[in-house]
Amino acid sequence: MKRARCVLLPRISISRLPLIFYIILCSVPGIFSTKNVTLGSIQIFKTHEFLPRKPTIYFYCKGENKIILPDVKEKHFFYTFKGKESWQPLTELTDNKCKRCGLYEMDRIKSDDVFDEWELCLDDFIDGKSIHFKEKEFNATFICGQCRAGGVVPVVDSGVTSSSKSGSVDKKMNVVLVIVISALVSAIAAAGTVGAHKYWQKRKREQDQARFLKLFEDGDDIEDELGLEQI
Ligand SMILES: *[C@@H]1O[C@H](CO)[C@@H](O)[C@H](O)[C@H]1NC(C)=O
Ligand SMILES: *[C@@H]1O[C@H](CO)[C@@H](O)[C@H](O)[C@H]1NC(C)=O
Repeated sequence: MKRARCVLLPRISISRLPLIFYIILCSVPGIFSTKNVTLGSIQIFKTHEFLPRKPTIYFYCKGENKIILPDVKEKHFFYTFKGKESWQPLTELTDNKCKRCGLYEMDRIKSDDVFDEWELCLDDFIDGKSIHFKEKEFNATFICGQCRAGGVVPVVDSGVTSSSKSGSVDKKMNVVLVIVISALVSAIAAAGTVGAHKYWQKRKREQDQARFLKLFEDGDDIEDELGLEQI
């Protein structure tokens, strides 16, 4: 009885270990693997410089380095990139965090000019591609091919699935917790029941013994009395 209980409890937790590892791995890829975002194409519709000078245009995400786009100089020209240029990738994205990024033009006199500033998020990418267009400013496509890598996060509506995925991970975690806790509780309850039963048996035995001894003593007394009377 005792043996069976000892074997049962570890077996439950060991069989749950792969599940726990799986859940941890599922919730972690955003931390382990960042996803590179590259510039696929860009077309600028204006420059902000007053002087007829070639503009210096750069992409910048808050807290990161400025990525100067060395080739982008002409208005309305449609620039395409392979994603392997020396200045690529533009930035890296993780699963659950957007970045505040923008396209700017360096200004030698006043502060830099802004084409646009926006939140760059994983769920902007549909089939690994995100188009950002701002009227009269620019039209750019950003590529995030790794968004579909590993087959863990489907590219289409990746943001939605990753949030619902973390929800289901939470649910799974809760289920595991409930199972572990109920296993513990039943083990403790079983141990308690066995202990109580043993204690009750011991008490009963002691009481029986006491009653038995008392019976003897009483018997002796009676015998004594009888003996005395007979003498
Ligand atoms: C992302 O880009 C960096 C270079 O900036 C590179 O070292 C890394 O290997 C790239 N990651 C992937 C998964 O391609
Ligand atoms: C922006 O460029 C993409 C091609 O890279 C094109 O499909 C899209 O129609 C363009 N958008 C506008 C508003 O020009």
